[in-house]
Amino acid sequence: MKILAPSILAADFTILGEQINETAAAGAQYLHFDVMDGIFVPSISFGMPVLKSIRKASGQVYDVHLMIEEPIRYVEEFAKAGADIITFHIEAASDVREVIDKIHSLGKKAGLAIKPKTPVEAVKPYLEHIDMLLIMTVEPGFGGQKYMDECTDKIREARELVAEAGLSTDIEIDGGITIDNIHIPVEAGANVIVAGSACFNGDVTANVKKLMENM
Ligand code: DX5
Ligand code: ZN
Repeated sequence: MKILAPSILAADFTILGEQINETAAAGAQYLHFDVMDGIFVPSISFGMPVLKSIRKASGQVYDVHLMIEEPIRYVEEFAKAGADIITFHIEAASDVREVIDKIHSLGKKAGLAIKPKTPVEAVKPYLEHIDMLLIMTVEPGFGGQKYMDECTDKIREARELVAEAGLSTDIEIDGGITIDNIHIPVEAGANVIVAGSACFNGDVTANVKKLMENM
């Protein structure tokens, strides 16, 4: 199934609940929640109290993307705050397996993310243990960047790897998606597409519908 995951990093926080509802009503099944710690990535975004508060806004799958060093420290708190999927970076965890197992022990789905320069091969040992693989298509840290074309081959490679292993792992991509390029990662094999600016700049309902049409 093809899924759109609007990233609220680009939302209007004065009317955040309304905007989340709008994405849900327009058909976006997931809601993407970017957590940045100012260390793993240069910027700082938002954390558990915000997630806890907006959890009530919609019945979407809350897809939490942790861009934080040693995510093991916060997995339990994000699970309690309402995350359905917790995705962390392979580059940020000293014991990747430990984090995956911890997420699963809390009854949540586990996602593993790789930055543009990290090869797909790096996730091989963990593939059978994760529910979702997130391939970043920009350097993590900021919304509104340009899609890195060189990442499209990584999506293809990941889809092949998943198929060869006989798995049904979701492949998510994140960064630089527009109405005009959303078909590219989908054709390469991604089935969960994150979009921030493309969802929230302008008419949210129209944007979500158009993005989903073009997927
Ligand atoms: C970037 C974040 C993204 C971001 C995407 O580090 O992980 O989720 O919100 O924003 P756009 O879609 O504007 O590139
Ligand atoms: Zn993200």
